[in-house]
Amino acid sequence: MKILVTGATGRVGSEVVKALLQRGADVRALTRKQPKPGTFPSAVEIALGDLTDPVSIAEALKSVDKLFLLNGGSPDELTQALIAYSLSKKAGLKHLTYASIYQADQFLEVPHFAAKYAVEEAIRAGKMPYTILRPAYFFQNERALKAALTGPGVYPIPAGNQGVAVVDVRDIAKAAAISLTEEGHQGKTYDQVSAEMLTGPDAAATWSRLLGKEITYAGHADFDNFEAHLRKKGNPLRETGNPMSWLAHDLRLMFEAFVERGFRNTEDQTARFAALLGHQPKTYSSYAAELAAEWAAA
Ligand SMILES: NC(=O)c1ccc[n+]([C@@H]2O[C@H](COP(=O)([O-])OP(=O)(O)OC[C@H]3O[C@@H](n4cnc5c(N)ncnc54)[C@H](OP(=O)(O)O)[C@@H]3O)[C@@H](O)[C@H]2O)c1
Repeated sequence: MKILVTGATGRVGSEVVKALLQRGADVRALTRKQPKPGTFPSAVEIALGDLTDPVSIAEALKSVDKLFLLNGGSPDELTQALIAYSLSKKAGLKHLTYASIYQADQFLEVPHFAAKYAVEEAIRAGKMPYTILRPAYFFQNERALKAALTGPGVYPIPAGNQGVAVVDVRDIAKAAAISLTEEGHQGKTYDQVSAEMLTGPDAAATWSRLLGKEITYAGHADFDNFEAHLRKKGNPLRETGNPMSWLAHDLRLMFEAFVERGFRNTEDQTARFAALLGHQPKTYSSYAAELAAEWAAA
């Protein structure tokens, strides 16, 4: 069984590739540029293609049985996703697992939520077997905070006080691999949420304990300033983020909404995710401890 993985060089997709190989699947990885040697294990086939280019995607889908579809952050992710979806249907794929976002339908004023919800609805309305994954805020976003945390001692993400659902990308990927290699996940939508929720003050307290110094929560009072900072400095959720004006605004809208309405999950949602994984989801505090140890050793 051959599975095409989009976003395969990214945080989630690279873990999906590993999880699928562990489960014995044949993996084809989509990427726009020839990857550097060692990016993927030798068993992985490479397909060069761009989700904005249907010709390259039709080629990448040849002889493929199933698709893991993840779109990188892009203002045209809706178009990209629907191109991949229509071509997968045309190619007669047996299953699609789509990486959406937690509460996609609750934050329609945020472009990257609205795009994913539109894709979800197209998939649900279509006839192709599918699983939709709805991951919460990635633990791994925190990797980009090293300078702020270890330098001035600021937790800069305006997570607010209400609670933001969070998840480890390795758990997202394991669930994706399960949905693509086991029976019983067709037509299902899974929330991917850990047991802990993040607030700005709690995150600052966690990092204070782990780094042995006082970390201050930067707060969430001035979103004009937050957006202007992102526009100048780049995506705060990525170490490699380049300044992107649309993304600065999109993330501003997201965090404003999180501050206002929260992005909370329930214990039942976590229990359902644990049942899918076969174990409890990883916790934010253990990931933060992992990261702090890595920074201390560097
Ligand atoms: N950060 C969060 O907390 C969070 C939470 C929930 C959902 N999400 C969603 O997760 C997604 C990002 O996942 P990630 O962090 O794993 O991605 P990432 O590490 O930023 O990597 C982006 C991937 O997308 C690929 N890509 C970008 N543009 C492409 C195009 N035009 N055609 C083909 N491939 C393209 C890149 O491949 P190449 O560069 O190799 O071509 C790369 O593999 C976004 O949709 C975001 O909204 C994020």
